[in-house]
Amino acid sequence: MQCHKCNQDAVIELQHGALCKNHFITYFEEKVFKTINKFQLIQRSDKICVATSGGKDSLTVLYLVKKYCKRHHIPTDGIFALAVDEGIKDYREQTLTDLQQFCDDHDVPLHVVSNKEEFGATLDKAYPIINKGTKKKPCNVCGVWRRYSLNKYARKFGATKVVTGHNLDDEAQVILMNIFKANTKLAGRIGPISGVKEHDYFVQRVKPLYMCSDKEVRLYTLLKGFTVQFTECPYSVEGYRHEIQDMLNKFEHKYKGTKHAIITSFLDLLPLLKERDLQQNESVKACTQCGEAANKDVCNACTMRGML
Ligand code: FES
Ligand code: ZN
Ligand code: ZN
Repeated sequence: MQCHKCNQDAVIELQHGALCKNHFITYFEEKVFKTINKFQLIQRSDKICVATSGGKDSLTVLYLVKKYCKRHHIPTDGIFALAVDEGIKDYREQTLTDLQQFCDDHDVPLHVVSNKEEFGATLDKAYPIINKGTKKKPCNVCGVWRRYSLNKYARKFGATKVVTGHNLDDEAQVILMNIFKANTKLAGRIGPISGVKEHDYFVQRVKPLYMCSDKEVRLYTLLKGFTVQFTECPYSVEGYRHEIQDMLNKFEHKYKGTKHAIITSFLDLLPLLKERDLQQNESVKACTQCGEAANKDVCNACTMRGML
Protein backbone atom coordinates (compact mmCIF):
# COMPACT_ATOMS: atom_id res chain seq x y z
CA MET A 1 0.00 0.00 0.00
CA GLN A 2 1.37 3.42 -0.95
CA CYS A 3 0.55 6.93 0.22
CA HIS A 4 -1.77 8.59 -2.28
CA LYS A 5 0.03 11.88 -1.76
CA CYS A 6 3.70 10.94 -2.13
CA ASN A 7 3.95 7.21 -3.01
CA GLN A 8 5.92 6.34 0.14
CA ASP A 9 4.92 3.23 2.12
CA ALA A 10 1.55 3.81 3.74
CA VAL A 11 0.86 3.30 7.46
CA ILE A 12 -2.93 3.50 7.29
CA GLU A 13 -5.74 3.22 4.80
CA LEU A 14 -8.49 5.78 5.28
CA GLN A 15 -11.70 6.25 3.36
CA HIS A 16 -10.14 8.87 1.09
CA GLY A 17 -6.96 6.85 0.49
CA ALA A 18 -3.79 5.54 2.12
CA LEU A 19 -1.27 7.79 3.92
CA CYS A 20 2.42 7.51 4.84
CA LYS A 21 3.72 8.37 8.32
CA ASN A 22 4.32 12.07 7.66
CA HIS A 23 1.13 12.67 5.73
CA PHE A 24 -0.89 10.82 8.37
CA ILE A 25 0.59 12.92 11.19
CA THR A 26 -0.22 16.13 9.31
CA TYR A 27 -3.74 14.91 8.44
CA PHE A 28 -4.42 13.92 12.05
CA GLU A 29 -3.15 17.14 13.59
CA GLU A 30 -5.03 19.29 11.08
CA LYS A 31 -8.22 17.38 11.85
CA VAL A 32 -7.84 18.11 15.57
CA PHE A 33 -7.06 21.80 14.94
CA LYS A 34 -10.06 22.10 12.60
CA THR A 35 -12.31 20.55 15.27
CA ILE A 36 -11.08 23.11 17.83
CA ASN A 37 -11.80 25.93 15.37
CA LYS A 38 -15.12 24.65 14.06
CA PHE A 39 -16.69 24.13 17.49
CA GLN A 40 -14.80 27.05 19.08
CA LEU A 41 -13.43 24.81 21.81
CA ILE A 42 -10.68 27.17 22.94
CA GLN A 43 -10.78 30.93 23.36
CA ARG A 44 -7.74 33.14 23.66
CA SER A 45 -8.63 34.06 27.26
CA ASP A 46 -9.08 30.46 28.46
CA LYS A 47 -7.06 28.94 31.23
CA ILE A 48 -6.88 25.32 30.14
CA CYS A 49 -6.93 22.23 32.31
CA VAL A 50 -6.29 18.99 30.43
CA ALA A 51 -7.93 15.99 32.10
CA THR A 52 -5.36 13.26 31.80
CA SER A 53 -5.03 9.61 32.69
CA GLY A 54 -1.72 8.83 31.03
CA GLY A 55 -3.54 6.86 28.32
CA LYS A 56 -3.12 7.45 24.58
CA ASP A 57 -6.06 9.84 24.20
CA SER A 58 -5.15 12.15 27.04
CA LEU A 59 -1.46 12.36 26.13
CA THR A 60 -2.34 13.09 22.52
CA VAL A 61 -4.82 15.81 23.41
CA LEU A 62 -2.42 17.39 25.90
CA TYR A 63 0.34 17.50 23.29
CA LEU A 64 -1.92 18.87 20.55
CA VAL A 65 -3.67 21.50 22.64
CA LYS A 66 -0.28 22.90 23.54
CA LYS A 67 0.76 22.79 19.88
CA TYR A 68 -2.48 24.51 18.83
CA CYS A 69 -1.98 27.30 21.38
CA LYS A 70 1.61 27.84 20.28
CA ARG A 71 0.57 28.02 16.64
CA HIS A 72 -2.07 30.66 17.43
CA HIS A 73 0.17 32.59 19.83
CA ILE A 74 -2.09 31.76 22.78
CA PRO A 75 -0.04 31.74 26.01
CA THR A 76 0.75 28.15 27.06
CA ASP A 77 2.12 28.82 30.52
CA GLY A 78 -1.38 28.57 32.08
CA ILE A 79 -2.02 25.07 30.69
CA PHE A 80 -1.97 22.38 33.36
CA ALA A 81 -2.79 18.67 33.55
CA LEU A 82 -5.10 17.14 36.12
CA ALA A 83 -5.33 13.41 36.84
CA VAL A 84 -7.49 11.34 39.14
CA ASP A 85 -5.90 8.39 40.90
CA GLU A 86 -8.95 6.17 41.30
CA GLY A 87 -7.09 3.55 43.27
CA ILE A 88 -7.18 0.62 40.82
CA LYS A 89 -4.43 -1.81 41.69
CA ASP A 90 -1.93 -2.88 39.00
CA TYR A 91 -3.37 -0.39 36.52
CA ARG A 92 -3.29 3.27 37.42
CA GLU A 93 0.18 3.29 39.03
CA GLN A 94 1.95 2.75 35.71
CA THR A 95 -0.14 5.18 33.67
CA LEU A 96 0.47 7.89 36.29
CA THR A 97 4.22 7.29 36.14
CA ASP A 98 4.13 7.62 32.34
CA LEU A 99 2.00 10.73 32.68
CA GLN A 100 4.39 12.41 35.10
CA GLN A 101 7.27 11.74 32.71
CA PHE A 102 5.30 13.08 29.74
CA CYS A 103 4.34 16.25 31.62
CA ASP A 104 7.96 16.78 32.69
CA ASP A 105 9.15 16.29 29.09
CA HIS A 106 6.57 18.76 27.77
CA ASP A 107 6.86 21.26 30.56
CA VAL A 108 3.27 21.03 31.78
CA PRO A 109 2.48 21.10 35.52
CA LEU A 110 0.54 18.05 36.72
CA HIS A 111 -1.87 17.83 39.67
CA VAL A 112 -3.03 14.42 40.86
CA VAL A 113 -6.08 14.05 43.10
CA SER A 114 -6.90 10.68 44.60
CA ASN A 115 -10.16 9.01 45.52
CA LYS A 116 -8.53 7.89 48.72
CA GLU A 117 -7.96 11.45 49.85
CA GLU A 118 -11.13 12.91 48.40
CA PHE A 119 -13.58 10.16 49.36
CA GLY A 120 -11.69 8.18 52.00
CA ALA A 121 -11.29 5.00 49.94
CA THR A 122 -9.81 3.67 46.72
CA LEU A 123 -12.19 2.53 44.00
CA ASP A 124 -11.09 -1.07 44.67
CA LYS A 125 -12.22 -0.78 48.30
CA ALA A 126 -15.27 1.42 47.81
CA TYR A 127 -16.96 -0.24 44.86
CA PRO A 128 -17.88 -3.61 46.49
CA ILE A 129 -19.47 -1.74 49.42
CA ILE A 130 -21.41 0.68 47.21
CA ASN A 131 -22.39 -2.18 44.90
CA LYS A 132 -24.02 -4.09 47.78
CA GLY A 133 -26.57 -1.40 48.42
CA THR A 134 -27.06 -0.02 44.92
CA LYS A 135 -25.91 -2.66 42.39
CA LYS A 136 -23.81 0.10 40.84
CA LYS A 137 -20.99 -1.13 38.61
CA PRO A 138 -17.39 0.01 39.26
CA CYS A 139 -17.45 2.22 36.15
CA ASN A 140 -20.51 4.09 37.47
CA VAL A 141 -18.83 4.83 40.79
CA CYS A 142 -15.57 5.67 39.04
CA GLY A 143 -17.30 8.01 36.55
CA VAL A 144 -19.26 9.95 39.18
CA TRP A 145 -16.20 10.43 41.38
CA ARG A 146 -13.91 11.27 38.46
CA ARG A 147 -16.22 13.93 37.00
CA TYR A 148 -16.69 15.37 40.48
CA SER A 149 -12.96 15.65 41.19
CA LEU A 150 -12.08 16.96 37.74
CA ASN A 151 -14.68 19.69 37.95
CA LYS A 152 -13.91 20.62 41.54
CA TYR A 153 -10.14 20.84 41.14
CA ALA A 154 -10.14 22.34 37.65
CA ARG A 155 -12.22 25.16 39.11
CA LYS A 156 -10.07 25.37 42.22
CA PHE A 157 -6.96 25.81 40.08
CA GLY A 158 -8.66 28.54 38.07
CA ALA A 159 -9.42 26.71 34.81
CA THR A 160 -12.07 28.06 32.46
CA LYS A 161 -12.05 24.93 30.22
CA VAL A 162 -11.40 21.27 30.84
CA VAL A 163 -10.03 19.53 27.76
CA THR A 164 -10.71 15.79 27.64
CA GLY A 165 -9.36 13.06 25.37
CA HIS A 166 -12.74 11.61 24.34
CA ASN A 167 -12.51 10.35 20.78
CA LEU A 168 -15.03 9.50 18.08
CA ASP A 169 -15.38 5.89 19.27
CA ASP A 170 -16.07 6.98 22.87
CA GLU A 171 -18.73 9.41 21.72
CA ALA A 172 -20.42 6.96 19.33
CA GLN A 173 -20.61 4.45 22.21
CA VAL A 174 -22.21 7.00 24.54
CA ILE A 175 -24.74 8.09 21.92
CA LEU A 176 -25.85 4.48 21.37
CA MET A 177 -25.89 3.74 25.09
CA ASN A 178 -28.17 6.70 25.71
CA ILE A 179 -30.53 5.48 23.00
CA PHE A 180 -30.46 1.85 24.15
CA LYS A 181 -31.20 2.94 27.72
CA ALA A 182 -33.78 5.59 26.73
CA ASN A 183 -31.58 8.17 28.36
CA THR A 184 -32.35 10.92 25.88
CA LYS A 185 -32.52 13.42 28.72
CA LEU A 186 -28.73 13.35 28.87
CA ALA A 187 -28.14 13.57 25.13
CA GLY A 188 -28.06 17.38 25.00
CA ARG A 189 -25.24 17.42 27.52
CA ILE A 190 -22.78 15.49 25.37
CA GLY A 191 -21.22 16.65 22.07
CA PRO A 192 -17.90 18.45 21.48
CA ILE A 193 -18.71 20.91 24.28
CA SER A 194 -20.35 19.43 27.35
CA GLY A 195 -23.33 20.99 29.06
CA VAL A 196 -26.18 23.08 27.79
CA LYS A 197 -25.15 26.48 29.08
CA GLU A 198 -22.35 28.01 31.06
CA HIS A 199 -22.76 27.65 34.79
CA ASP A 200 -20.83 28.90 37.84
CA TYR A 201 -20.55 25.41 39.30
CA PHE A 202 -19.29 23.74 36.15
CA VAL A 203 -16.17 24.23 34.10
CA GLN A 204 -17.07 23.44 30.48
CA ARG A 205 -15.53 20.25 29.11
CA VAL A 206 -14.36 20.23 25.49
CA LYS A 207 -13.25 17.38 23.22
CA PRO A 208 -10.69 18.20 20.50
CA LEU A 209 -10.39 14.50 19.46
CA TYR A 210 -14.11 14.40 18.71
CA MET A 211 -13.65 13.54 15.03
CA CYS A 212 -10.67 11.15 15.48
CA SER A 213 -11.23 7.41 15.67
CA ASP A 214 -9.65 5.28 18.34
CA LYS A 215 -7.53 3.59 15.68
CA GLU A 216 -6.20 6.94 14.44
CA VAL A 217 -5.29 8.11 17.95
CA ARG A 218 -3.55 4.82 18.65
CA LEU A 219 -1.50 5.09 15.47
CA TYR A 220 -0.63 8.72 16.14
CA THR A 221 0.77 7.94 19.61
CA LEU A 222 2.81 5.07 18.17
CA LEU A 223 4.23 7.17 15.34
CA LYS A 224 5.06 10.02 17.71
CA GLY A 225 6.78 7.57 20.06
CA PHE A 226 4.78 8.56 23.15
CA THR A 227 5.35 6.18 26.06
CA VAL A 228 1.90 4.88 26.71
CA GLN A 229 0.32 1.69 28.05
CA PHE A 230 -2.40 0.21 25.92
CA THR A 231 -3.72 -1.87 28.81
CA GLU A 232 -7.39 -1.50 29.56
CA CYS A 233 -8.87 -0.80 32.95
CA PRO A 234 -9.54 -4.19 34.60
CA TYR A 235 -13.14 -3.14 35.30
CA SER A 236 -13.98 -2.15 31.74
CA VAL A 237 -14.58 -5.74 30.57
CA GLU A 238 -17.54 -6.00 32.92
CA GLY A 239 -19.38 -3.05 31.46
CA TYR A 240 -22.41 -2.71 29.25
CA ARG A 241 -20.35 -0.20 27.35
CA HIS A 242 -17.79 -2.84 26.46
CA GLU A 243 -20.48 -4.81 24.65
CA ILE A 244 -21.58 -1.72 22.73
CA GLN A 245 -17.94 -1.16 21.78
CA ASP A 246 -17.61 -4.74 20.46
CA MET A 247 -20.80 -4.41 18.50
CA LEU A 248 -19.75 -1.08 16.98
CA ASN A 249 -16.35 -2.48 16.00
CA LYS A 250 -18.00 -5.42 14.24
CA PHE A 251 -20.34 -3.06 12.41
CA GLU A 252 -17.54 -0.71 11.43
CA HIS A 253 -15.53 -3.62 10.09
CA LYS A 254 -18.43 -4.75 7.92
CA TYR A 255 -19.89 -1.35 7.03
CA LYS A 256 -17.11 1.25 6.91
CA GLY A 257 -18.09 4.71 8.13
CA THR A 258 -20.74 3.56 10.62
CA LYS A 259 -19.18 5.30 13.63
CA HIS A 260 -18.70 8.49 11.70
CA ALA A 261 -22.32 8.38 10.54
CA ILE A 262 -23.53 8.05 14.14
CA ILE A 263 -21.57 11.18 15.08
CA THR A 264 -22.75 13.14 12.04
CA SER A 265 -26.42 12.29 12.70
CA PHE A 266 -26.01 13.22 16.35
CA LEU A 267 -24.38 16.56 15.52
CA ASP A 268 -27.35 17.32 13.26
CA LEU A 269 -29.74 16.80 16.15
CA LEU A 270 -27.64 18.39 18.86
CA PRO A 271 -28.87 22.01 18.51
CA LEU A 272 -32.46 20.77 18.91
CA LEU A 273 -31.55 18.69 21.95
CA LYS A 274 -29.75 21.60 23.58
CA GLU A 275 -32.68 23.91 22.86
CA ARG A 276 -35.09 21.43 24.46
CA ASP A 277 -32.87 21.11 27.55
CA LEU A 278 -32.62 24.89 27.87
CA GLN A 279 -36.40 25.15 27.91
CA GLN A 280 -36.66 22.49 30.60
CA ASN A 281 -34.18 24.57 32.58
CA GLU A 282 -33.46 22.11 35.38
CA SER A 283 -32.24 23.86 38.47
CA VAL A 284 -28.80 23.15 39.84
CA LYS A 285 -28.26 23.71 43.55
CA ALA A 286 -25.37 23.39 45.96
CA CYS A 287 -24.89 20.04 47.68
CA THR A 288 -25.60 20.45 51.38
CA GLN A 289 -22.57 18.33 52.26
CA CYS A 290 -19.82 19.56 49.96
CA GLY A 291 -21.16 22.67 48.25
CA GLU A 292 -20.57 21.30 44.74
CA ALA A 293 -23.31 21.14 42.10
CA ALA A 294 -26.23 18.80 42.76
CA ASN A 295 -29.69 18.22 41.31
CA LYS A 296 -30.98 17.12 44.72
CA ASP A 297 -29.96 18.07 48.29
CA VAL A 298 -26.91 15.82 48.36
CA CYS A 299 -24.81 15.25 45.22
CA ASN A 300 -24.19 11.75 43.83
CA ALA A 301 -20.53 11.77 44.83
CA CYS A 302 -21.37 12.52 48.48
CA THR A 303 -24.22 9.99 48.47
CA MET A 304 -21.71 7.31 47.47
CA ARG A 305 -19.15 8.51 49.98
CA GLY A 306 -21.87 8.28 52.64
CA MET A 307 -22.29 4.54 51.98
CA LEU A 308 -18.73 3.73 53.02
FE1 FES B 1 -12.80 3.93 36.02
FE2 FES B 1 -12.02 1.78 34.86
S1 FES B 1 -11.07 3.71 34.80
S2 FES B 1 -13.67 1.97 36.19
ZN1 ZN C 1 2.88 10.58 1.95
ZN1 ZN D 1 -21.65 16.73 47.57
